[in-house]
Amino acid sequence: MDVDRLQEGLCTKRFGKRIVFLQEIDSTNNYAKKLASYGAEEGTVVIAETQTAGRGRLGREWISPMGGLYLSIILRPKIRAVEAVKLVFVASLAVAKVLNEIYRLSVETKWPNDVLVKGKKVCGILAESNTAGEKVNYTVIGLGVNANFSVEKTLPKELAETATSLENELGRKILFEELFRELIEKLETVYYLFLKEGFAPILDEWKKYACFLGQKVEVASGAEKLHGIAVDIDSDGSLILKQNDSSIKLVSGDLSLN
Ligand code: BTN
Repeated sequence: MDVDRLQEGLCTKRFGKRIVFLQEIDSTNNYAKKLASYGAEEGTVVIAETQTAGRGRLGREWISPMGGLYLSIILRPKIRAVEAVKLVFVASLAVAKVLNEIYRLSVETKWPNDVLVKGKKVCGILAESNTAGEKVNYTVIGLGVNANFSVEKTLPKELAETATSLENELGRKILFEELFRELIEKLETVYYLFLKEGFAPILDEWKKYACFLGQKVEVASGAEKLHGIAVDIDSDGSLILKQNDSSIKLVSGDLSLN
């Protein structure tokens, strides 16, 4: 893989105008955050063939074998710091649309930031923001897509049970450059829509892919395990969980279907 091939035919205004390609790095998010702190422009992409210390949400590890897509993109949105969480929906909607429209997969979004195929995780998203008071200096969005590898052959057994890959679902390898190009283009389109029209159209479309709405769920939130019906996502991105006669709002957590 080389940068020229990744950039070839990329139809974007700003996303991917600068691409940093690395064969191996600890974490593309770490690298992108460093670039952002030195002033790198919005749309700068860091992509690696493999990560030695890929990071997931809640301090988890993101195992990053060859064949996966590991990228981070720098955003500098003029939004309030509390709104940065909405960028996770922007990213997961973009991924869901690409997997659905280009690869015809029946994808689902799971609050807050997973993309699944047939109930198994195919992509994880890690958003990290640097803020100054009310303002966002930058947000780095990291995407890990299980692409060209077989989960059974590559991932530890316990992960292989809950994860899938494009190769597993399609029965073939995909053209990596095509996946990259489609993702970067869709990310830009959805991000500009968010900046122009706000969160409502993003959330509306995101909910069409949401597999868990109206279902009985368990949400691990800190040390607590909460049970209820996932009735909706609020306009600020939080989950509304109905428990008996009352509803609670959760800003983060780990959701699983009961
Ligand atoms: C999750 O599901 O917990 C989020 C996983 C995010 C993984 C991606 S891979 C590229 C970027 N670099 C990282 O270290 N993490 C994200």
